[in-house]
Amino acid sequence: MTSIRRCFSFTFYETNGEQGAIETITTASAMQAQAQTLRNQGKRIVLVPTMGFLHEGHLSLMRLGLAHADALVVSIFVNPTQFGPGEDLEAYPRDFDRDLALCRDEGAAVVFAPQPEEIYPAGFQTHVDLESLPKHLCGKSRPVHFRGVATVVTKLFNIVSPHMAVFGEKDFQQLTVIRRMVRDLNLPVGILGGPTFREADGLAMSSRNAYLTPAQRPAALSLIQSLHLAREMAANGETDARRIVEAATGMINAHPEARIDYVAVCNPQTLEDLTRLDGPARMFLAVRVGRARLIDNMAIN
Ligand code: PAJ
Repeated sequence: MTSIRRCFSFTFYETNGEQGAIETITTASAMQAQAQTLRNQGKRIVLVPTMGFLHEGHLSLMRLGLAHADALVVSIFVNPTQFGPGEDLEAYPRDFDRDLALCRDEGAAVVFAPQPEEIYPAGFQTHVDLESLPKHLCGKSRPVHFRGVATVVTKLFNIVSPHMAVFGEKDFQQLTVIRRMVRDLNLPVGILGGPTFREADGLAMSSRNAYLTPAQRPAALSLIQSLHLAREMAANGETDARRIVEAATGMINAHPEARIDYVAVCNPQTLEDLTRLDGPARMFLAVRVGRARLIDNMAIN
């Protein structure tokens, strides 16, 4: 028992004139014990997995989760296995104290913040991999990404035992992968998708927006502008997906700082490219602007 207690810490913050306690747990065993205690008390656990450097998008998921929770658990873990070689694992922005204060303000009961060695101890060799969903869109330029995501999310589900977990539509392919994995592996967790939270100018909030300079903003905004253009074209009766992709591509390429990774119109369930809009269609974008790789997506019909 004492060994478990040592893994807990209670942090008191004074923000917005309120004071309260939030539990920080850093080991899997202590988190599992706490989840069991909460379940024994009949509490409904909702998990919001994050990599930290929290913004309003993350907070909107916490608020959504709280509406279904007796105990909201937020995980903060920059997961090394979802970063490929040469990606921004080392540079990924971090501010744990600020994150903890935000979680407390939102009413989270527990922050689970393990170190990488806790999640991937020496000798780790088991992964969760999906067959086709990870091969589309982001998977083409990030071949190990979704294997890392599926593996860490499975581990988080086993450690936190949530009744429900919340993920953002901002990362629509990730949400699709997780829904599929939960169904395929009969994981006893309900998955809730939250809408994309945007800055006032329409840029989808992202921890990586911190990499953007003010001069790069117009290029970054070409993502939301091209999604709106696509939606407008579909609303005006355009059914040729290639024409919509061409128009969006042109709009983004008008900014020399923007380098397109992909522009695609896909079936939102299979993530396969569409040639004609004769059913549900979603546009997906990934564009590099300076050091930031930005993604966005929207239903266009
Ligand atoms: P992270 O990028 O920190 O995002 C955590 C959650 O916040 C994800 O579900 C993501 O889709 C959601 N999110 C990000 N920006 C958002 C926005 N603008 N509006 C609404 N939701 C938004 O996604 C990850 O971390 C990781 O891959 C993770 C699932 C934690 C696994 O390591």
